[in-house]
Amino acid sequence: MTISFGDRVAVITGAGTGLGRSHALELASRGAMVVVNDLASPDGDGPSSAETVVEEIRQSGGVAVASHDSVATQAGGAAIIAKAVDEFGRIDIVINNAGIVRDASFAKLSAEATDAVLDVHLRAAFFVTQPAFVHMKEQGYGRILFTSSGAGLFGNFGQANYAAAKAGVVGLANVLAIEGSRNNIAANVLAPAARTQMNEGLLGELTDALDPELVTSMAVYLVSEECDRTGEVYSAIGGRYAQIFIGLTPGWFAGAGARPTADDVAANIETIRDTTGFRVPTDVSTEVEELTELLRAGSQ
Ligand SMILES: NC(=O)c1ccc[n+]([C@@H]2O[C@H](COP(=O)([O-])OP(=O)(O)OC[C@H]3O[C@@H](n4cnc5c(N)ncnc54)[C@H](O)[C@@H]3O)[C@@H](O)[C@H]2O)c1
Repeated sequence: MTISFGDRVAVITGAGTGLGRSHALELASRGAMVVVNDLASPDGDGPSSAETVVEEIRQSGGVAVASHDSVATQAGGAAIIAKAVDEFGRIDIVINNAGIVRDASFAKLSAEATDAVLDVHLRAAFFVTQPAFVHMKEQGYGRILFTSSGAGLFGNFGQANYAAAKAGVVGLANVLAIEGSRNNIAANVLAPAARTQMNEGLLGELTDALDPELVTSMAVYLVSEECDRTGEVYSAIGGRYAQIFIGLTPGWFAGAGARPTADDVAANIETIRDTTGFRVPTDVSTEVEELTELLRAGSQ
Protein backbone atom coordinates (compact mmCIF):
# COMPACT_ATOMS: atom_id res chain seq x y z
CA MET A 1 0.00 0.00 0.00
CA THR A 2 1.47 3.35 -1.02
CA ILE A 3 -1.46 5.63 -0.42
CA SER A 4 -1.87 6.05 3.31
CA PHE A 5 -3.63 8.44 5.64
CA GLY A 6 -1.46 8.24 8.77
CA ASP A 7 -2.36 11.49 10.56
CA ARG A 8 -5.37 12.37 8.47
CA VAL A 9 -8.88 12.88 9.81
CA ALA A 10 -11.80 12.11 7.51
CA VAL A 11 -15.52 12.80 7.69
CA ILE A 12 -17.72 10.64 5.50
CA THR A 13 -21.42 11.45 5.45
CA GLY A 14 -24.05 8.77 4.99
CA ALA A 15 -21.40 6.18 5.80
CA GLY A 16 -23.57 3.69 7.67
CA THR A 17 -24.36 1.78 4.48
CA GLY A 18 -23.50 1.47 0.80
CA LEU A 19 -20.74 3.52 -0.76
CA GLY A 20 -20.05 5.62 2.34
CA ARG A 21 -19.51 2.51 4.45
CA SER A 22 -17.10 1.14 1.86
CA HIS A 23 -15.17 4.45 1.74
CA ALA A 24 -15.01 4.56 5.55
CA LEU A 25 -13.67 1.01 5.90
CA GLU A 26 -11.00 1.56 3.24
CA LEU A 27 -9.83 4.93 4.57
CA ALA A 28 -9.64 3.53 8.11
CA SER A 29 -7.70 0.48 6.88
CA ARG A 30 -5.19 2.92 5.37
CA GLY A 31 -4.75 4.71 8.68
CA ALA A 32 -7.25 7.58 8.60
CA MET A 33 -9.17 8.52 11.73
CA VAL A 34 -12.76 8.48 10.54
CA VAL A 35 -15.99 10.17 11.57
CA VAL A 36 -18.68 7.81 10.33
CA ASN A 37 -21.78 9.95 9.89
CA ASP A 38 -25.27 8.61 9.30
CA LEU A 39 -28.73 9.07 10.77
CA ALA A 40 -29.59 7.33 14.05
CA SER A 41 -31.76 4.22 13.69
CA PRO A 42 -35.39 5.31 13.40
CA ASP A 43 -36.62 3.06 16.22
CA GLY A 44 -33.66 3.89 18.48
CA ASP A 45 -33.15 0.18 19.19
CA GLY A 46 -29.70 -1.36 18.96
CA PRO A 47 -26.62 0.17 17.37
CA SER A 48 -27.12 2.57 14.47
CA SER A 49 -25.66 1.79 11.05
CA ALA A 50 -22.88 4.31 11.77
CA GLU A 51 -22.08 2.64 15.10
CA THR A 52 -21.95 -0.74 13.39
CA VAL A 53 -19.40 0.55 10.87
CA VAL A 54 -17.38 2.14 13.69
CA GLU A 55 -17.34 -1.21 15.47
CA GLU A 56 -16.17 -2.96 12.29
CA ILE A 57 -13.34 -0.44 11.94
CA ARG A 58 -12.30 -0.83 15.59
CA GLN A 59 -12.36 -4.63 15.34
CA SER A 60 -9.84 -4.32 12.51
CA GLY A 61 -7.60 -2.06 14.58
CA GLY A 62 -8.74 1.22 13.08
CA VAL A 63 -9.88 4.46 14.66
CA ALA A 64 -13.40 5.81 14.18
CA VAL A 65 -16.30 7.57 15.89
CA ALA A 66 -19.96 7.75 14.96
CA SER A 67 -21.90 10.94 14.26
CA HIS A 68 -25.68 11.01 13.99
CA ASP A 69 -26.26 14.60 12.94
CA SER A 70 -28.20 15.21 9.76
CA VAL A 71 -26.31 16.75 6.87
CA ALA A 72 -29.50 18.53 5.84
CA THR A 73 -29.21 21.46 8.28
CA GLN A 74 -26.52 24.04 8.91
CA ALA A 75 -26.42 23.05 12.59
CA GLY A 76 -26.02 19.40 11.60
CA GLY A 77 -23.16 20.14 9.21
CA ALA A 78 -21.38 22.21 11.85
CA ALA A 79 -21.83 19.46 14.45
CA ILE A 80 -20.42 16.79 12.12
CA ILE A 81 -17.23 18.77 11.52
CA ALA A 82 -17.03 19.79 15.20
CA LYS A 83 -17.08 16.09 16.07
CA ALA A 84 -13.98 15.49 13.94
CA VAL A 85 -12.13 18.46 15.41
CA ASP A 86 -13.16 17.68 19.01
CA GLU A 87 -12.26 13.98 18.75
CA PHE A 88 -9.16 14.10 16.59
CA GLY A 89 -7.98 17.73 16.60
CA ARG A 90 -8.27 18.43 12.87
CA ILE A 91 -10.18 17.76 9.66
CA ASP A 92 -8.36 16.86 6.43
CA ILE A 93 -10.91 15.03 4.31
CA VAL A 94 -14.62 15.44 3.69
CA ILE A 95 -16.54 13.01 1.54
CA ASN A 96 -20.04 14.34 0.93
CA ASN A 97 -21.81 11.07 0.29
CA ALA A 98 -25.16 11.03 2.17
CA GLY A 99 -28.10 10.66 -0.14
CA ILE A 100 -31.78 10.00 -0.66
CA VAL A 101 -34.05 9.80 -3.68
CA ARG A 102 -37.64 11.00 -4.05
CA ASP A 103 -38.32 10.26 -7.71
CA ALA A 104 -41.26 11.65 -9.68
CA SER A 105 -41.71 12.86 -13.24
CA PHE A 106 -41.28 16.63 -13.35
CA ALA A 107 -44.98 17.39 -13.92
CA LYS A 108 -45.82 15.50 -10.71
CA LEU A 109 -42.84 16.52 -8.57
CA SER A 110 -43.90 17.99 -5.21
CA ALA A 111 -42.19 20.91 -3.49
CA GLU A 112 -41.59 18.61 -0.49
CA ALA A 113 -39.75 16.03 -2.59
CA THR A 114 -37.72 18.79 -4.22
CA ASP A 115 -36.76 20.37 -0.91
CA ALA A 116 -35.90 17.05 0.75
CA VAL A 117 -33.54 16.05 -2.06
CA LEU A 118 -31.95 19.49 -2.46
CA ASP A 119 -31.42 19.60 1.33
CA VAL A 120 -29.63 16.25 1.59
CA HIS A 121 -27.51 16.52 -1.56
CA LEU A 122 -26.94 20.18 -2.39
CA ARG A 123 -27.52 22.35 0.68
CA ALA A 124 -25.84 19.66 2.77
CA ALA A 125 -22.74 19.99 0.61
CA PHE A 126 -22.54 23.61 1.77
CA PHE A 127 -23.50 22.89 5.39
CA VAL A 128 -20.89 20.16 5.89
CA THR A 129 -18.09 21.48 3.69
CA GLN A 130 -18.02 25.13 4.74
CA PRO A 131 -16.98 24.62 8.39
CA ALA A 132 -14.39 22.08 7.24
CA PHE A 133 -13.10 24.45 4.57
CA VAL A 134 -12.39 27.11 7.20
CA HIS A 135 -10.18 24.64 9.14
CA MET A 136 -8.53 23.41 5.95
CA LYS A 137 -7.58 26.95 4.91
CA GLU A 138 -5.98 27.57 8.31
CA GLN A 139 -3.98 24.34 8.26
CA GLY A 140 -3.06 24.66 4.57
CA TYR A 141 -4.35 21.25 3.54
CA GLY A 142 -7.63 19.64 2.59
CA ARG A 143 -9.26 17.12 0.29
CA ILE A 144 -12.97 17.50 -0.47
CA LEU A 145 -15.02 15.07 -2.50
CA PHE A 146 -18.60 15.57 -3.64
CA THR A 147 -20.76 12.71 -4.84
CA SER A 148 -22.59 13.47 -8.04
CA SER A 149 -24.40 11.11 -10.38
CA GLY A 150 -24.75 10.34 -14.05
CA ALA A 151 -28.40 11.27 -13.54
CA GLY A 152 -27.34 14.86 -12.85
CA LEU A 153 -24.56 15.10 -15.40
CA PHE A 154 -26.32 13.31 -18.26
CA GLY A 155 -30.02 13.23 -17.24
CA ASN A 156 -32.47 10.55 -16.13
CA PHE A 157 -36.24 10.35 -16.37
CA GLY A 158 -38.06 11.06 -13.10
CA GLN A 159 -35.10 12.57 -11.25
CA ALA A 160 -35.35 16.35 -11.79
CA ASN A 161 -34.79 17.11 -8.09
CA TYR A 162 -31.93 14.64 -7.69
CA ALA A 163 -30.30 15.57 -11.01
CA ALA A 164 -30.37 19.30 -10.26
CA ALA A 165 -28.82 18.69 -6.83
CA LYS A 166 -26.18 16.37 -8.26
CA ALA A 167 -25.24 18.85 -10.99
CA GLY A 168 -25.18 21.63 -8.38
CA VAL A 169 -22.31 20.08 -6.46
CA VAL A 170 -20.17 20.33 -9.59
CA GLY A 171 -20.58 24.12 -9.51
CA LEU A 172 -19.63 24.15 -5.83
CA ALA A 173 -16.54 22.01 -6.47
CA ASN A 174 -15.47 24.30 -9.34
CA VAL A 175 -15.42 27.29 -7.01
CA LEU A 176 -13.80 25.48 -4.07
CA ALA A 177 -11.06 24.26 -6.40
CA ILE A 178 -10.31 27.88 -7.25
CA GLU A 179 -10.73 29.30 -3.74
CA GLY A 180 -8.81 26.44 -2.12
CA SER A 181 -5.88 26.30 -4.52
CA ARG A 182 -3.63 28.64 -2.52
CA ASN A 183 -4.10 26.53 0.61
CA ASN A 184 -3.49 23.08 -0.90
CA ILE A 185 -7.19 22.23 -0.80
CA ALA A 186 -8.43 20.04 -3.64
CA ALA A 187 -12.12 19.69 -4.43
CA ASN A 188 -13.28 17.02 -6.85
CA VAL A 189 -16.46 15.20 -7.79
CA LEU A 190 -17.20 11.51 -8.13
CA ALA A 191 -20.07 10.14 -10.19
CA PRO A 192 -20.44 6.53 -9.03
CA ALA A 193 -22.67 3.60 -9.71
CA ALA A 194 -22.78 0.62 -7.38
CA ARG A 195 -25.03 -2.02 -5.87
CA THR A 196 -26.52 -0.45 -2.73
CA GLN A 197 -29.87 -0.18 -0.95
CA MET A 198 -30.56 2.98 -2.98
CA ASN A 199 -30.95 1.07 -6.23
CA GLU A 200 -31.88 -2.38 -4.97
CA GLY A 201 -33.56 -4.39 -7.72
CA LEU A 202 -32.91 -1.73 -10.37
CA LEU A 203 -29.55 -2.81 -11.79
CA GLY A 204 -30.61 -5.95 -13.64
CA GLU A 205 -27.79 -7.99 -15.17
CA LEU A 206 -25.18 -5.46 -13.97
CA THR A 207 -25.93 -6.12 -10.29
CA ASP A 208 -23.04 -8.53 -9.72
CA ALA A 209 -20.52 -6.28 -11.48
CA LEU A 210 -21.25 -3.18 -9.44
CA ASP A 211 -19.35 -3.67 -6.18
CA PRO A 212 -19.20 -0.52 -4.04
CA GLU A 213 -15.51 -1.27 -3.37
CA LEU A 214 -14.77 -0.61 -7.05
CA VAL A 215 -16.00 2.97 -6.57
CA THR A 216 -14.09 3.36 -3.32
CA SER A 217 -10.70 2.95 -5.05
CA MET A 218 -11.34 6.14 -7.00
CA ALA A 219 -12.80 7.97 -3.98
CA VAL A 220 -9.78 7.12 -1.84
CA TYR A 221 -7.34 8.28 -4.53
CA LEU A 222 -9.24 11.57 -4.92
CA VAL A 223 -9.00 12.36 -1.18
CA SER A 224 -5.35 11.34 -0.87
CA GLU A 225 -2.28 13.55 -0.68
CA GLU A 226 -1.16 11.86 -3.92
CA CYS A 227 -4.10 13.41 -5.77
CA ASP A 228 -2.90 16.58 -7.49
CA ARG A 229 -6.09 17.04 -9.48
CA THR A 230 -8.73 19.60 -8.48
CA GLY A 231 -12.01 20.88 -9.87
CA GLU A 232 -12.53 17.68 -11.85
CA VAL A 233 -15.29 15.11 -12.18
CA TYR A 234 -14.63 11.39 -12.36
CA SER A 235 -16.84 8.43 -13.11
CA ALA A 236 -16.32 5.13 -11.30
CA ILE A 237 -18.58 2.22 -12.14
CA GLY A 238 -17.97 -1.53 -12.10
CA GLY A 239 -14.18 -1.21 -12.42
CA ARG A 240 -14.22 1.37 -15.25
CA TYR A 241 -12.78 4.75 -14.29
CA ALA A 242 -13.18 7.80 -16.53
CA GLN A 243 -13.15 11.58 -16.51
CA ILE A 244 -16.27 13.62 -17.20
CA PHE A 245 -15.80 17.22 -18.28
CA ILE A 246 -17.51 20.31 -19.62
CA GLY A 247 -15.79 21.54 -22.76
CA LEU A 248 -15.97 24.66 -24.84
CA THR A 249 -15.96 24.32 -28.63
CA PRO A 250 -13.98 26.81 -30.72
CA GLY A 251 -17.41 27.87 -31.97
CA TRP A 252 -18.27 30.35 -34.69
CA PHE A 253 -17.17 33.98 -34.42
CA ALA A 254 -19.41 36.39 -36.32
CA GLY A 255 -16.68 39.03 -36.49
CA ALA A 256 -15.94 42.22 -34.57
CA GLY A 257 -18.90 44.58 -34.60
CA ALA A 258 -21.14 42.11 -36.46
CA ARG A 259 -24.82 41.81 -35.46
CA PRO A 260 -25.61 38.19 -36.29
CA THR A 261 -29.30 37.31 -36.33
CA ALA A 262 -31.03 34.14 -35.15
CA ASP A 263 -30.95 33.07 -38.81
CA ASP A 264 -27.17 33.48 -38.87
CA VAL A 265 -26.90 31.34 -35.72
CA ALA A 266 -29.12 28.70 -37.33
CA ALA A 267 -26.98 28.73 -40.46
CA ASN A 268 -23.84 28.15 -38.39
CA ILE A 269 -25.16 25.77 -35.75
CA GLU A 270 -23.04 22.83 -36.94
CA THR A 271 -19.85 24.93 -36.71
CA ILE A 272 -20.93 26.10 -33.24
CA ARG A 273 -21.46 22.48 -32.19
CA ASP A 274 -18.26 21.12 -33.74
CA THR A 275 -16.20 19.69 -30.87
CA THR A 276 -12.93 19.58 -32.84
CA GLY A 277 -10.29 21.49 -30.90
CA PHE A 278 -12.47 21.97 -27.79
CA ARG A 279 -10.99 23.29 -24.55
CA VAL A 280 -11.82 22.41 -20.96
CA PRO A 281 -11.90 25.73 -19.08
CA THR A 282 -10.51 25.83 -15.56
CA ASP A 283 -12.40 29.02 -14.72
CA VAL A 284 -14.78 31.55 -16.19
CA SER A 285 -12.04 33.70 -17.72
CA THR A 286 -11.36 31.22 -20.56
CA GLU A 287 -14.26 32.50 -22.65
CA VAL A 288 -13.22 36.11 -22.13
CA GLU A 289 -9.63 35.31 -23.12
CA GLU A 290 -10.77 33.52 -26.26
CA LEU A 291 -12.99 36.43 -27.29
CA THR A 292 -10.18 38.88 -26.63
CA GLU A 293 -7.94 36.84 -28.94
CA LEU A 294 -10.61 36.71 -31.64
CA LEU A 295 -11.19 40.46 -31.48
CA ARG A 296 -7.45 41.14 -31.55
CA ALA A 297 -6.97 38.82 -34.56
CA GLY A 298 -9.91 40.52 -36.30
CA SER A 299 -8.44 43.98 -35.85
CA GLN A 300 -5.05 43.03 -37.34
N1 LIG B 1 -25.55 3.58 -5.72
C1 LIG B 1 -25.44 4.18 -6.91
O1 LIG B 1 -25.46 3.55 -7.99
C2 LIG B 1 -25.27 5.66 -6.98
C3 LIG B 1 -25.25 6.27 -8.25
C4 LIG B 1 -25.05 7.63 -8.33
C5 LIG B 1 -24.88 8.36 -7.17
N2 LIG B 1 -24.94 7.75 -5.94
C6 LIG B 1 -24.76 8.58 -4.77
O2 LIG B 1 -23.84 7.95 -3.89
C7 LIG B 1 -24.13 8.33 -2.55
C8 LIG B 1 -24.22 7.10 -1.67
O3 LIG B 1 -25.37 6.38 -2.07
P1 LIG B 1 -25.56 4.81 -1.82
O4 LIG B 1 -25.90 4.21 -3.13
O5 LIG B 1 -24.43 4.27 -1.03
O6 LIG B 1 -26.93 4.82 -0.97
P2 LIG B 1 -27.26 4.35 0.50
O7 LIG B 1 -28.72 4.59 0.65
O8 LIG B 1 -26.73 2.98 0.75
O9 LIG B 1 -26.44 5.36 1.42
C9 LIG B 1 -26.84 6.67 1.65
C10 LIG B 1 -26.76 6.92 3.13
O10 LIG B 1 -27.03 8.30 3.39
C11 LIG B 1 -27.70 8.36 4.63
N3 LIG B 1 -28.45 9.61 4.78
C12 LIG B 1 -29.60 9.97 4.19
N4 LIG B 1 -30.00 11.18 4.63
C13 LIG B 1 -29.05 11.60 5.52
C14 LIG B 1 -28.89 12.77 6.30
N5 LIG B 1 -29.82 13.75 6.27
N6 LIG B 1 -27.80 12.88 7.10
C15 LIG B 1 -26.87 11.90 7.14
N7 LIG B 1 -26.98 10.75 6.42
C16 LIG B 1 -28.06 10.61 5.62
C17 LIG B 1 -28.64 7.16 4.59
O11 LIG B 1 -29.10 6.82 5.90
C18 LIG B 1 -27.77 6.11 3.95
O12 LIG B 1 -27.10 5.30 4.90
C19 LIG B 1 -25.41 9.15 -2.62
O13 LIG B 1 -25.07 10.54 -2.63
C20 LIG B 1 -26.01 8.77 -3.94
O14 LIG B 1 -26.86 9.76 -4.45
C21 LIG B 1 -25.13 6.43 -5.83
